[in-house]
Formats: sequence, C-alpha cells, structure tokens
Amino acid sequence: ALVTTKKMFEKAFEGGYAIGAFNINNMEIIQGVVAAAKAQNSAVILQVSKSALKYAHPKYLKAMVDAAIEETGLDIALHLDHGSDFEVCKDCIEYGFTSVMFDGSHLEYEENVAQTKKIVEYAHERGIVVEAELGKLAGVEDEVNVDAAHATYTDPDQAVDFVKRTGVDSLAIAIGTSHGAYKFKGEAKLDFDRLATITEKLEAAGFHNYPIVLHGASSVDQRCVAMCNEYGGNIAGAKGIPAEMLRKASSMAVCKINMDTDLRLAMTAAVRKSFGDEPAAFDPRGYLGAGRALIQELVEDKIKNVIGSTDSM
Ligand code: G3H
Ligand code: 13P
Ligand code: ZN
Repeated sequence: ALVTTKKMFEKAFEGGYAIGAFNINNMEIIQGVVAAAKAQNSAVILQVSKSALKYAHPKYLKAMVDAAIEETGLDIALHLDHGSDFEVCKDCIEYGFTSVMFDGSHLEYEENVAQTKKIVEYAHERGIVVEAELGKLAGVEDEVNVDAAHATYTDPDQAVDFVKRTGVDSLAIAIGTSHGAYKFKGEAKLDFDRLATITEKLEAAGFHNYPIVLHGASSVDQRCVAMCNEYGGNIAGAKGIPAEMLRKASSMAVCKINMDTDLRLAMTAAVRKSFGDEPAAFDPRGYLGAGRALIQELVEDKIKNVIGSTDSM
C-alpha cells in the first residue's frame, strides 16, 4: 500500500535496520528499485527532488508509483526530497505524496524552526509526515577542510530543541556525509559519537526511538565507476560512504538512508556498456533495460547486505 514512513521507522528502529530512500526520475529507475524491494520483501521509500518533479511531472511519477504498488503489493512511501518551501510541500501533499521533506538547513535556526513548524502543522492535519534537516552537509566542492565541515555538524542540544518545537517526524543530520560522488578527499569518516549523543539526548527529552535520516549516503560503487570509465566516461576520484559505516548507522538511530548517486552511476555505467558492446543497436529498451537491471542488482545488494531491510514487509 501507499503508506507514510511512520510504521516503517518504528519497525526499523526496533529491528536495527534502515529503510532505503531512493531518488526516482523515470520509469526504469522506479522499476529497478521496486523489483529489488520485491525480491527482498522489503518496504521502500521512493523520493522525488524538486528537479525530478520538474523533469518528469508529479502526476507521471505518482501514477507510476501507484502502478508499482499495485503490481508488487509492497508498502511504499512517496516522499518529497529537499522541499525548499511551504508551497512545494503543499503541492506534493495535494499530488498524493505521503511524506515531505522541508530542507531549511541553510536558514537561520529560528527561521528553520518557524518554517518547519508551519509545514508540520499543515501536513499533520492531512495525515502526512515531515522530515526536516538541521546542520549543513558539506558541499561537494568545499570538502577540503575538515574543520570547516565540523563547524556545520548537527548540534545535539539544538536537535532536541528543534524536534520539541517543530513536532517534526524525522530529522536529517550532518555527521560527515555529503551529496554527490566526491564525498571524501582522504579517509572516510563519520561522527558516530555525535549520532549516539543526539539519540541519547532525544531519549532523555522523551522522544523514544526517534528516527534519524542520513542524506548523501551513496557508497559510490567502484565497479560502476570503473565501468563508466572503461566505456568512455571520465569520472575520477569518486568516493562514497563505505558499506560498514552504513551498516553501523542502520543499527543505530538512522532509519532512512538516502541514495541517488549510486543509482545514477549504475544507470550510466550500464548504458555506456550497452553502447560500447552493441554499437549497431539503437533500441532504447536495450540500453535502458540494461540500466534498470543494474539498478535492481545494486539496490538488492544494499537492502540485503548493507541496510538490512530484507523481510521488513
Ligand atoms: O539530494 C539531492 C538529490 O541527489 C537530488 O538531486 O536535484 O539533481 O534531482 P537532483
Ligand atoms: P547521494 O548523493 O549520496 O546519493 O545522496 C542522495 C541524497 O541525499 C538525496 O537526498
Ligand atoms: Zn539529500
């Protein structure tokens, strides 16, 4: 069924696993992700960014997600990723999304509180859940200085105050992940102590098993990167979050793990290989089908071996 993330997160927290939140833009990505979830009997979150809304139109995406639910019988949440303002959240709720993110992480703290609270009130009246963000994820290009990144990690006391004052259902935090394919210059490092402290403080404030969200959590599969490069690509120095770190986060309070880059790399790698292997072919079903198949393989591996949501249905 089309569901909110509420029960998903309760079960994930209790079970020490996380639910994958995969960015969708077209039919092949949706089908690849959903086929993997079905094969693993796993609940899944399909999320749509603002630029994906613009690219594919919410009506098309919603209709394809409805079809996927009907075909598989899975519990799927349809989520707005990085909603920038009240209007886009409201629009997505009207289109039938069950969850929205308001990303006010770039705003002044009080402004983030005020805008998040307004969206939470609007959404809750309609049975929809809200994710917000506190702390800033390092940008792809300003990753040079670790200290600079540290300055924007989520403050645990502020996280408690934020959850208390906004009533938000889940919180995305900054502990060292970042968006895109270039996450670390040197060794990968996440601040797990900070994550543990945030959870302890939330518990102490009466927020039991409060679900945390990890953005920028792609692993940047080196096989996919190598395949892209072997078939004419030029992706150098790409590095993601190691699988063991995602396993650890999933066993802690992280209930939602966001992945987009990994799907993009898989799709691109498979399409490039398909073009390379069959230069005379020109049927989109050939190369897009190859992309869909590699996405399925990758997502199945994530569910089974990384985030652990197998049999969460
Ligand atoms: O967090 C960002 C997601 O990877 C979505 O990216 O806005 O290019 O669709 P996008
Ligand atoms: P990645 O770029 O690591 O896939 O992160 C995606 C994300 O956080 C979407 O909100
Ligand atoms: Zn994100």
